[in-house]
Amino acid sequence: MTQHLADALPTTTGTTPGWWRDAVIYQVYPRSFADSNGDGMGDLEGIRSRLPYLKELGVDAVWLSPFYASPQADAGYDVADYRAIDPMFGTLHDADAVIREAHDLGLRIIVDLVPNHCSDQHEWFKQALREGPGSRLRERFHFRPGKGENGELPPNDWESIFGGPAWTRVADGEWYLHLFAPEQPDFNWEHPAVQDEFRSILRFWLDLGADGFRVDVAHGLVKAPGLPDLGARDQLKLLGNDVMPFFDQDGVHEIYRSWRLILDEYEGDRVLVAEAWTPTVERTARYVRPDEMHQAFNFQYLTSDWEATALREVIDGSLAAMRPVGAPTTWVLSNHDVTRHATRFANPAGLGTQLREPGDRDLGLRRARAASLLMLALPGSAYVYQGEELGLPDVTDLPDEVRQDPSFFRAAGQDGFRDGCRVPIPWSGTEAPYGFGTGGSWLPQPDSWAELSVEAQTGDPSSTLELYRTALRLRREHPDLGAGESVDWQEAPEGVLVLRRGNFLCTANTTGTAVRLPVTGEVLLSSGDTVEDGVLPADTTVWWQVTAG
Ligand code: GLC
Ligand code: CA
Repeated sequence: MTQHLADALPTTTGTTPGWWRDAVIYQVYPRSFADSNGDGMGDLEGIRSRLPYLKELGVDAVWLSPFYASPQADAGYDVADYRAIDPMFGTLHDADAVIREAHDLGLRIIVDLVPNHCSDQHEWFKQALREGPGSRLRERFHFRPGKGENGELPPNDWESIFGGPAWTRVADGEWYLHLFAPEQPDFNWEHPAVQDEFRSILRFWLDLGADGFRVDVAHGLVKAPGLPDLGARDQLKLLGNDVMPFFDQDGVHEIYRSWRLILDEYEGDRVLVAEAWTPTVERTARYVRPDEMHQAFNFQYLTSDWEATALREVIDGSLAAMRPVGAPTTWVLSNHDVTRHATRFANPAGLGTQLREPGDRDLGLRRARAASLLMLALPGSAYVYQGEELGLPDVTDLPDEVRQDPSFFRAAGQDGFRDGCRVPIPWSGTEAPYGFGTGGSWLPQPDSWAELSVEAQTGDPSSTLELYRTALRLRREHPDLGAGESVDWQEAPEGVLVLRRGNFLCTANTTGTAVRLPVTGEVLLSSGDTVEDGVLPADTTVWWQVTAG
């Protein structure tokens, strides 16, 4: 296999170099995108065959969640071999074809890198277990003797994000650390072999033509020296609100500086994107300093309610935090770990990101469309999670027996309803699996999804799919959309956001009642009903072309 230099790829628009600065990046969750061989599981060939759809949708890049060899204890985020494809998803040849064809279409491919932990079936971990306590190979992980009279207690009080202690005891009596499931042992990033191995893995995928990496749990790699107890504090409440002995430690930045040097050796603007859940946007900004990563997910934005004051605060805060480091701000509303925004916004505010209630579906969709249009008007780069362009809701009534989220099966961890946003997407037809494949789908799709399929929505100007297509086209064509580093807020009634850039204006009504706005201009796009006599409908965002001045 040869390296594909991305000849067909568009070079940067705008004045600052870096295609990623204002890119719209589409997240594909390979299990649930398209199934080419009828086994009910999405795969790489399915993705390849649907690349033209993504091109037509108008995105710039595609981020693929993990497709590596894996026992699938955490849907592929438990990697057994970082250089091999799981047979369930295809072969290395298929991965090569996805990258090559994406490049031919002018799309970039970002792969998911999972460096915090591997699978307990990874060769290194199996060897470490075999070699026994005290062996050098155990130093690549965090093995420790237990506490208590006979070592029967875990080495410290850390809890797994998925629930239960973050430690599991092996047959010879030692314990190993896993911040997530027991099948996901954490690497010891102090160890030079771990560092070397990941530099080599980066090169492997860069050589294959990957345009970058989304770095899983980027905030977790380095643990505080001595692995200190957390003390009597409620860990779940602290997560994401505080610097923890296992999260957001300063030492992680050195790792990303060394990776950046590797990416910079390669042609064609390759990028690193941090999945870093940190307490503040300012802490997140540290991951995207000029010699570290390029982008970081904006989880403060994702977790914000559909409410004007809160949104304005997080938008301004995010832009201000990124400005000193020169990184673009990113925006995201949904991903494979949270309840889809069409369902979050269908429910009362403040319930978090793991919901079990469908809420008011119409309201949720109306707000989701408005929220998406607001997001796509903001300066910087935006992430779209597969299916949100169809307005898909979360599937809140999955029977327990089909659920696969590991945290669902462990008490006291995060709520574990992540399967609801992972249901395979509907492409066509009137019956499940709606063109996802020919042999069912690994999670059941609701009966109501026929009308949400790509086929059903295509050509219907009122559909969410056409809203996204038009929005993405306008974003490409209009020089002021998605550009700049700040937002120029205009005076607006309570609950309404009005932002302007050049002769582009975006008005977002986050309230449940229509408001009159003194805007004169041409409506470019509306997420809701037609705008008449300057009346902006409830829960609606409108894009305008106004005259300069
Ligand atoms: C990230 C992934 C999530 C996974 C976890 C452990 O948060 O997005 O899906 O379970 O890391 O790898
Ligand atoms: Ca398949």
